[in-house]
Amino acid sequence: MIYLDNAATTPVREEVINVIQKSMLDDWGNPSSTHNNGRKAKAKLEVSRRLFAKDMGADSGEIFFTSGATESIYLALLNFVENGAKHLIACKTEHKAVLDSVAFLADKHGISHSILDVSKDGLISLEALQSILAQEQAATCAVAIMHTNNESGVIQALEDISQLCREHDAFFFCDAVQSGLTHSIHVKELGIHGMSFSAHKMYGPKGVGLLYLDKALKRTSLTKGGGQERGLRPGTENMPGILGFAKAWELARKEQASFRTHTLELKQHAIQLIKSKYPEAYIGSGEAPHILHFGIPTTKKTDTVLMELDLNNVCLSAGSACQSGSHKQSHVVEAMGLPTDFVYLRMSFGKGNTKSEIDYAIAHI
Ligand SMILES: Cc1ncc(COP(=O)(O)O)c(C=O)c1O
Repeated sequence: MIYLDNAATTPVREEVINVIQKSMLDDWGNPSSTHNNGRKAKAKLEVSRRLFAKDMGADSGEIFFTSGATESIYLALLNFVENGAKHLIACKTEHKAVLDSVAFLADKHGISHSILDVSKDGLISLEALQSILAQEQAATCAVAIMHTNNESGVIQALEDISQLCREHDAFFFCDAVQSGLTHSIHVKELGIHGMSFSAHKMYGPKGVGLLYLDKALKRTSLTKGGGQERGLRPGTENMPGILGFAKAWELARKEQASFRTHTLELKQHAIQLIKSKYPEAYIGSGEAPHILHFGIPTTKKTDTVLMELDLNNVCLSAGSACQSGSHKQSHVVEAMGLPTDFVYLRMSFGKGNTKSEIDYAIAHI
């Protein structure tokens, strides 16, 4: 199998599996227990929390473990609303976890929201953002703009966005799920109030995520019960998952530079092959080294192209895994206003991929 869908999920790496197994066999105590067995687990939990906090420039009290980025995103936006946000702002190419949370929260809390357009290059207009922030100056705004787009690989200008949020006293949330392997984001330098990551996009296990939430915010939880995760996320922590996530994170940080170099080389190789096979192909301008968004001129349907690839043992996708099977044009392609007579695909590279895999995949497109 040739797996070129690493933005959908990544395999769990062996070092991570070893940590998870050890946690289940040896350190299985409940971190809330006060006896030695529990304290041992608690110590490991807090070491993991500090690792994430240090890398992001946050306090460890600002790191919360969740079931994944979808939960982290909703929790962050809910907390912004509970802390007084009266107008929510996102952009059309955000992940559905953001778009649906914004729409739901705005409706549920009777507040307004704006969804910014993006250019053909997938970028938001800073002028448009500024104009909404200025227009809404009587209301506290909360802005949710992702770093790396999961489909187009477009990277938004976090510094400029956060500067605007600072100038207008707006909360700023950044979904950084697709940047976990490629970027280090310092939340305090950037003035970010909330940020999400997901372990399964980083060679960690599924069902574990992380939320950074600024300590200045009063916290509201989704569920009620115990006081775990400082009340923000009650319930016994997923210890094997969290320790596995921490290992995946530690290795990702160590290998960040080589991961970038390796995936960028694969991306450039793929672009060359696509261009020579389909001179009129659309090649996305997204700067993420590990995500290539491209379009080919064909009368075939997207599903047919993907199925043919699948029959040849090539795993590729048209975009977000959560949206697959919907048979609708991707909301990212629509938002970018790309021509409709192309089939758009996402090839996302991982640390184990090789150029010969790319050769094989493109020969079968
Ligand atoms: C950009 C982005 N945000 C959020 C998510 C949701 O992450 P999770 O699967 O951890 O809920 C994904 C995963 O598809 C993603 O790519």
